[in-house]
Amino acid sequence: MTTDFQPIQDDDVAQVVKLWHSCDLTRPWNPPGEDIAQLRAHPTAEILVARNANACVASVAVGYDGHRGWAYYVATDPAFRNRGLGRAAMRAAEGWLTVRGVAKIQLMVRESNAAVIGFYGGLGYKDSGVRVLQKWLSPERARLCAEGTNGH
Ligand SMILES: CC(C)(COP(=O)(O)OP(=O)(O)OC[C@H]1O[C@@H](n2cnc3c(N)ncnc32)[C@H](O)[C@@H]1OP(=O)(O)O)[C@@H](O)C(=O)NCCC(=O)NCCS
Repeated sequence: MTTDFQPIQDDDVAQVVKLWHSCDLTRPWNPPGEDIAQLRAHPTAEILVARNANACVASVAVGYDGHRGWAYYVATDPAFRNRGLGRAAMRAAEGWLTVRGVAKIQLMVRESNAAVIGFYGGLGYKDSGVRVLQKWLSPERARLCAEGTNGH
């Protein structure tokens, strides 16, 4: 196992979808295959993965929106948890943004996933004191979200 995070490759895509499913990070209104394609096509975003024997065991999606840096899809395969991969994923995302001159990294945690707050707290992340508002621009995604359980 390596804690070295590298950009996702074509052959990794199916494994990363599986990884995100296994980490309960997918939702019907966030099709992982489409999210991966969008992130990979975006000039200021990247999906970084760590591998074990050519299998992707951890990921982080990182991007810069022109004002702040963001991390999404922070995931460690359940069989590889508590070995430092999550910490290394965030370090990799922070490094990716820092070399691009980005001053701040932010991330969103679903209210249903409060258990993970301690993980981020241990890495120096604090509550931003900002409420995130949202509005769907895709009626189809809005419908899928409305049918879901937690709405975000
Ligand atoms: C959160 C997650 C990425 C952590 O991955 P991991 O590889 O097990 O994390 P690490 O081994 O690097 O842990 C780093 C530190 O955080 C601690 N930690 C890990 N998970 C924690 C949790 N849920 N609560 C509090 N602390 C936690 C570890 O004990 C470790 O502490 P230490 O350095 O003092 O020993 C993993 O649990 C995961 O994939 N969860 C499901 C997906 C998810 O919720 N992602 C976040 C979406 S916002």
